[in-house]
Amino acid sequence: IKENPASASEYVANLIAARINAFKPTAEKPFVLGLPTGSTPLKVYSHLIHLHQSGRLSFRHVVTFNMDEYVSLPSSHPQSYHTFMYTHLFSHIDIPASSVHILNGCAADLIAECSAYEAAIRSYGGIDLFLAGVGADGHIAFNEPGSSLASRTRVKTLAKETLVDNARFFEGDVAKVPKLALTVGVGTVMDAREVVVVALGANKARAVKAAVEGKVGHWETVSVVQMHPRAVVVVDEDATTEL
Ligand code: GLP
Repeated sequence: IKENPASASEYVANLIAARINAFKPTAEKPFVLGLPTGSTPLKVYSHLIHLHQSGRLSFRHVVTFNMDEYVSLPSSHPQSYHTFMYTHLFSHIDIPASSVHILNGCAADLIAECSAYEAAIRSYGGIDLFLAGVGADGHIAFNEPGSSLASRTRVKTLAKETLVDNARFFEGDVAKVPKLALTVGVGTVMDAREVVVVALGANKARAVKAAVEGKVGHWETVSVVQMHPRAVVVVDEDATTEL
């Protein structure tokens, strides 16, 4: 528990930097980082950029896999997660373009796209650290309530609560939010060697309770971190009110 969003984000960015800097990459095994979008990681990303710009962190030997992407939004769309990641992180760091992996929500064969993503993760020896936010209803990535806890990367129909939550990015119009997304599965997140969940603000208090004290189950998929051997949930004071 950190005092505020800034100190929580700085803590997480420093943790990620420490893991990357301690890792001894080889040609076969770079450091593999799973990344989320959303408002929650914004300050984490700006602190990572700051660490990079001040010469304390390089992403030359880091490979990334993003958690999810909307179906049907072209990567150039202002609200695609592709655009988000380049705007808020990738354009400001020294990561090679070929090291960035983001699901293609416009692929002709979405099912093949999802299996290829899982295969690509395996080809890099799995994910070393998965950073995640959490939806207000307790979902991780786009693993909406009712998702299998063994799920892998797949097409998912978004829950009404998620559509309403995300309408703010689509001119406040729920009808403009894509109804489908591609997302890594709960099983994909659980396979990571370490999972770091960040939740900031009072509207995440219920999700934090589910993550830390709730029953493990598929209604709040973030609860699965209770079963992970190496997971941490980092929150600010405002997100703790239901604990
Ligand atoms: C979406 C994303 C999640 C993210 C969640 C919360 O559902 N797929 O990965 O954790 O939004 O977003 P925010 O951080 O903006 O609250």
